[in-house]
Amino acid sequence: MTTSELWSQNILGNYGLPPVTLVRGQGARVWDDTGREYLDFSSGIAVLNIGHAHPHWLERVREQAGKLAHCSNLFINENAPRLAEKINAHMGGGKVFFCNSGAEANEALLKLSRLHGMAKAGGEEGKIYKVVTCENAFHGRLFGTMAATPQEKIQHGFRPLMPNVAVAKINDIESFRKLVDDETAAVILECVQGESGLTPATPEFLRELRALCDEKNVLLLCDEIQCGMGRTGTLFGFEQSGVRPDAFSMAKGLGNGFPIGAMWCDDKFAAYVKPGMHGTTFGGNPLATAAALAVFEVFEKENILDNVKRLSPAWRAGLKKIVDANPELCTELRGVGFMSGIRLSEAPAPWIAKLRDAGLLCVPAGNNVVRLLPPLNATQAELDEALAVLSAVFAAK
Ligand SMILES: Cc1ncc(COP(=O)(O)O)c(C=O)c1O
Repeated sequence: MTTSELWSQNILGNYGLPPVTLVRGQGARVWDDTGREYLDFSSGIAVLNIGHAHPHWLERVREQAGKLAHCSNLFINENAPRLAEKINAHMGGGKVFFCNSGAEANEALLKLSRLHGMAKAGGEEGKIYKVVTCENAFHGRLFGTMAATPQEKIQHGFRPLMPNVAVAKINDIESFRKLVDDETAAVILECVQGESGLTPATPEFLRELRALCDEKNVLLLCDEIQCGMGRTGTLFGFEQSGVRPDAFSMAKGLGNGFPIGAMWCDDKFAAYVKPGMHGTTFGGNPLATAAALAVFEVFEKENILDNVKRLSPAWRAGLKKIVDANPELCTELRGVGFMSGIRLSEAPAPWIAKLRDAGLLCVPAGNNVVRLLPPLNATQAELDEALAVLSAVFAAK
């Protein structure tokens, strides 16, 4: 039986049947089970920020797997506090909670917002707990995060949802002013909306939102799961506006393929959390945190953020040229840095299939965007190769 047949017969139908079986990756390249090579600008949906099988990451993971893979949070491991220290040093303080995925990290943010609401209500539970999210946001598929993801395709079939989530519009501060009130515990947003089509929040909007949250004593929660870990050229997306959230979530690129999520929160709000209030068996285990430490070490040694900053202008100019050359099909260049995409006048799936046939892997976003997520250590030559494929495929319409 082929792997494709095995998948169909045995894997739950929530993903549909993927078109290709991948067996190996190296840097920005992957190979399928027929030996065919692809340039991987899907990066496992913004996960493989330092590319496939990076030697330093591999060495760290291998070494840790042979030493101590797991011990639970009943014991201290050597890596989790070091990783948390790195994140806190970057933020100039705060505390970190480790978990295993993006949705779990956002769930921790939402639980923090309940504690903030309780504090705001003078210690009374269940009084202040409204969360304001954005239209077209994607925060995950657990019960809290799904409620904060106001999309019919995500929520349908799973109602009733977590109550008291209001929906405002990204970059429309007035829509937030109408909803953020004394009954509100938190605002949650992605600094660049990823899944719905690469819409950045403007720096001015983020600064106004920060001021509004301060005025109303509301937590500003940033979802950095996709736009964080260097995707936009700064370690976190909010840094581009100078805004400091009260708490934020990370996952995806944090482990470069080893599942790990994290929530950072300011010391002021960390004080809400007492022993026993939250937890997860695998969270921050030595193997996952070794992988994430390796990612930070590679970022430092190889100046990964500089690579994104240095190569982004030409990459985006190349994409813009393709948009301009195909005005009927390509309607807009979207996104920021290495989190960019081309908006089409039609559904992206057939184009993503054509690009794959031509040797380039990328991902759809929303109803009409072809999303390009190169590894953050991609070279000029790899970016040029992708531009050549995009150009040829779109021109052959
Ligand atoms: C911005 C954002 N938040 C949350 C999630 C959910 O993360 P996970 O799939 O790891 O649960 C995603 C995943 O695509 C995401 O892009």
